[in-house]
Amino acid sequence: MRIIHSLSELRAALKGEASTVFVPTMGNLHEGHLSLVREARRHGGPVVVSIFVNRLQFLPHEDFDRYPRTLARDAEMLEAAGCDIVFAPDEAELYPVPQVYKVQPPAALADLLEGEFRPGFFTGVCTVVMKLFQCVQPAVAIFGQKDYQQLKVLSAMAEQFAMPIQVLGAPTVRAGDGLALSSRNGYLGQTERQEAVALSQALAQLAQGARVPGSSLAALEQAAADGLRERGWMPDYLTLRRRNDLLPPTDAERLAGEPLVALGAARIGQTRLIDNLEL
Ligand code: PAF
Repeated sequence: MRIIHSLSELRAALKGEASTVFVPTMGNLHEGHLSLVREARRHGGPVVVSIFVNRLQFLPHEDFDRYPRTLARDAEMLEAAGCDIVFAPDEAELYPVPQVYKVQPPAALADLLEGEFRPGFFTGVCTVVMKLFQCVQPAVAIFGQKDYQQLKVLSAMAEQFAMPIQVLGAPTVRAGDGLALSSRNGYLGQTERQEAVALSQALAQLAQGARVPGSSLAALEQAAADGLRERGWMPDYLTLRRRNDLLPPTDAERLAGEPLVALGAARIGQTRLIDNLEL
């Protein structure tokens, strides 16, 4: 496995390669990321994993500075998982001048849910992923379904720009108690870590009520949020949406079996967690 920091070296290493499989990350890797790498391996081409903590997708009060940079440990894990190239540019390499050209995703998909609570987040994500796609020029790119809305926004971006890249989602990996693996779980204290599974449980409760005749969507969502609040959480949203456009389903759609997803984001202590559950 090679660790490459410069764009020119990356381009030289991938010259003429048409089947690269790409897994973009911000490092501080866990089993969830490694499952993406293993999935990438199955596609046959060389596997490139990027590690880049992207300033553009953090709000000023968010954890950009304290986001763990753990390249040596990440590289060991990636080598064991079958990665061929780690692309780990520094900020000066990826943003040699201020990045004034940006990719603005449509408000209808990007200004709701995460976009409502983290304004500009998806512009930052789309901009860096567009740039990373230009650097790596992959045939396939794999993202975790845990970041459900991110996966939707990026798939739509690749499609709208007619990028010759197949954007794929891979299932969320969970700890034994059901907590979705996330780099941010590392911020949780011991008691918070024990409590953290309550988010996925609240989503399961929401999902359970979703198809019940006579149920009210607003009441279901309120009950799920109140349940978390009573346990000391600060929920941003707990909501049921249509899978295809992330908009609220009508009652008729809910009861007729429209594919739905329960999505949630909530803060426990200082740590904001997100999760989702398809139904
Ligand atoms: O999901 C992430 O880790 C990041 O949002 C991504 C896709 C690597 C872009 O910085």
